[in-house]
Amino acid sequence: MSDFTLGILGSGQLGRMIVQAAADYGISCHVFAPDANNSPAGEICNKLTEAEYSDQNALNHFYNVVDAVTCEFENVPISALEMAPESVLKSPGIKALATAQERLIEKETAKLLGIPTSPYWKIGSISDLSDALDALDGSAILKTAKLGYDGKGQIRTKSGDSPEQLWHGINTDFAILESFVNFKKEISFLIARNTKGQTIIFPPTLNHHKNGILIHSTSPAILPQSVIDAGCDYVESMANHLEVVGLLAMELFLTEENTLVFNEIAPRPHNSYHWTIEGCKTSQFHQLVRSVSGLPFGEVETSKKWHMKNIFGQSVSELQSGYSNAKSYVHDYGKEDPKIDRKMGHITWVE
Ligand SMILES: Nc1ncnc2c1ncn2[C@@H]1O[C@H](COP(=O)(O)OP(=O)(O)O)[C@@H](O)[C@H]1O
Ligand SMILES: [Mg+2]
Repeated sequence: MSDFTLGILGSGQLGRMIVQAAADYGISCHVFAPDANNSPAGEICNKLTEAEYSDQNALNHFYNVVDAVTCEFENVPISALEMAPESVLKSPGIKALATAQERLIEKETAKLLGIPTSPYWKIGSISDLSDALDALDGSAILKTAKLGYDGKGQIRTKSGDSPEQLWHGINTDFAILESFVNFKKEISFLIARNTKGQTIIFPPTLNHHKNGILIHSTSPAILPQSVIDAGCDYVESMANHLEVVGLLAMELFLTEENTLVFNEIAPRPHNSYHWTIEGCKTSQFHQLVRSVSGLPFGEVETSKKWHMKNIFGQSVSELQSGYSNAKSYVHDYGKEDPKIDRKMGHITWVE
C-alpha cells in the first residue's frame, strides 16, 4: 500500500476511472466536489469532501491530506486549484486549465505554436457578430467561449443569418465564431507528461460525433505517417508549452488534403481514450496516476483494433446487452438518473 494520496476535483465518470486505476497501484483517492456523495467517483473513492469549490476551509482541509491534486473536468474553477499549497502537486497545472477553459485563449495558443486553426472571430456583441458574419465565407459555428461541453453552447450558422437572433440564441456575452471545417475525419491525440517533462503519446483515435457528442471511437486510427507525426508534434508542443502534468488530449480535424486543423484541447482523461483501459498495458487513467505520483510511464502500444461506444440515458439498456456479448467489456458509471444524452457508461470491444 502506497502512502500517496491523490486528490481529485470533480466526481464524474472520469474521476471514477482515475480512482479505479489508482487502486491498482495501492494509491488512495480523495474526491472533492459539490455533489460528491453518490456520484460516480464519490461512491467508490477512499475519502470524499462534499463542498463548493469556493469553500476555502474545506479546500484547506483537503489540501492538508493529499499529495497531489488533479482535475477530472476542465471547468473546475481556477481559484480552487490556486488554493493548493506549493507542497501539493497540481495537475494539469494552472496554465493548462486556464487555457482549456476559454476557447479564444485555446485557439490563440494553438496559433502561437504553429498549429493550424480555422479562421475565427472573437464575439462580444451583436455588432462583432454582424462584422464576423460579413467576413465569413461559408458556414460557421458560434460557440460560447466558456463552459461548453458535449456540443452544448453551440449554434451552426452561415453568412446572411440574423446576428440578433444568433446572439439571443447563444445567450452569453463572450463567444467565438469559427469557420466550419469540411473535415473527412475527426481525430484525437493524447499525451501524458510528468513532472520531469518526460512524455508518452498514445496511438491516435478516430472519432464519430452526433450533434457534437462523441458516439464511437476506434483506435489506432489508420492515417498517413505524416499526419500521425504532425498530430504528435502538435500535442507535444502544446503539452510542453502549457507545462502539463498529467494528460493532455487534442481534438483535430483531418481535411481532404490530409492536413490537420486544431479544434480544442482537454487537459484530462478523454472520452475517446477509454479503449485504453483494455487496449493498452497502461490506460490513460493509469498513465495519469503514474505522471502525478512519480511512477515511471508504462507502455501504450496496441496490436489490435479497438472500438469504444458511449452508452447514453436513452440507450442505457445496451449496457445490459453488452454483458451477453462475451467479447464486450462493459463499464457502468453507476449513475441513477438515465437522462437523454447523459453518459451512463461505455462498451469496449476488439475488432
Ligand atoms: N469549426 C468546426 N467545424 C466543423 N465541425 C465542428 C467545428 N467545431 C466543432 N465541430 C463539431 O462539433 C463537435 C463539438 O465541438 P467542440 O468544439 O469539440 O466542443 P465540445 O467542447 O462540446 O466538445 C466537434 O467534435 C465537431 O464534430
Ligand atoms: Mg470537443
